[in-house]
Amino acid sequence: MYDLMLKDGILKGKRILVTGGGTGLGEVMAEAYAQLGATVYICGRRKGVLDETAKRIADATGSKVSGIACDIRVAEAVDEMVGTIWADGGALSGLVNNAAGNFISRTKDLSPRGFNAISDIVFRGSFYVTLACGKRWIEEQKKASVISILTTWIWNGGPFTVPSAMSKAGLNIMTKSLAAEWGPHGIRFNAIAPGPFPTKGAWERLNPAASGNNEAAARMTAGMARNGEMVELANLAAFLMADGCEYLTGQTIAIDGGMHLAAGGNFSRLAALGDAEWDAIRGQIRSANDKDKVQRSV
Ligand code: HXC
Ligand code: NAP
Repeated sequence: MYDLMLKDGILKGKRILVTGGGTGLGEVMAEAYAQLGATVYICGRRKGVLDETAKRIADATGSKVSGIACDIRVAEAVDEMVGTIWADGGALSGLVNNAAGNFISRTKDLSPRGFNAISDIVFRGSFYVTLACGKRWIEEQKKASVISILTTWIWNGGPFTVPSAMSKAGLNIMTKSLAAEWGPHGIRFNAIAPGPFPTKGAWERLNPAASGNNEAAARMTAGMARNGEMVELANLAAFLMADGCEYLTGQTIAIDGGMHLAAGGNFSRLAALGDAEWDAIRGQIRSANDKDKVQRSV
């Protein structure tokens, strides 16, 4: 439970899907929505993780929270999941495109499969979920709010995270394009570009010990020189989902304490690393990936 700035019950009657809501920032937003009265659905590939999170949040908030195993890279599976949600009480009123994959790597070391591992989740998968919901909203004349979770490197580039930077930049322009195209249907699109909010999933792949804990060093000097607090993200995500600011659409809001303005907010400092360090980084990321993989149910 968070000490939120919006009043209790403000999201009562809302039905919200948070992709990747079983862990990290998705879990934070799912909890905030449930705490404010919404019915919440979370999806991901690890059913056990989803069930545990859904139960924890439902017990804490008293709201209905359901976990659905779905790999958003598979368009048919996405359509089936969205159909299941619609059949379970009607249309969604909100969607958060939060699920993502990422790892630091020199771009010259990436294989096509390595590029696709990230872009298939972020770029294609987020579009599949948006489309599956959007076509139903338009058909049924339902209003909705869509929030996509981006990164600040959509503005100045993401050295050493190029597949993520390209994919998130694509979602940024989806946000603006669909704000205009689907605005007449009452569907609004906004995005959040967070700075560093330490989560297990991100830190294992972006800040492994072998990288010299690059983000930790950067934080000492840039902007507000601290990590984001989960409640700060929760408040922004709740505000963008709540009624009362329907005229706000097509916008991407950075929440990074000014880091990208002060010091770029990306991984350019990794240029100092050599072959041996990159080998060690790859090994550490692989062992994190392998541990998560054994828990996958789809
Ligand atoms: C180079 C790598 C690599 C690495 C994997 N690959 N890790 N290449 N360096 N460190 C390559 C593999 O060699 C393989 O290519 C290809 O990627 C696919 O690998 P798989 O392990 O089979 O991938 P898959 O099972 O699809 O898993 C996807 C994943 C994984 C993205 C690699 O990390 C994942 O599922 N992540 C989900 C959670 C996550 O990433 N959370 C962090 C989000 S944080 P080859 O050719 O060898 O077969 C974030 C931004 C934060 O997005 C911003 C902070 C400031
Ligand atoms: P995380 O905990 O690893 O979250 C990623 C989530 O996405 C996981 O729950 C994962 O679950 C899910 N996911 C990955 N691939 C999927 C797929 N194919 N289908 C369905 N679900 C999938 O990391 P996080 O830090 O919270 O990141 C959440 C979002 O915030 C991401 O969009 C990230 O880019 C963004 N972000 C984070 C930070 C930060 O500092 N943490 C900063 C900027 C932006 P499964 O593995 O079970 O599928």
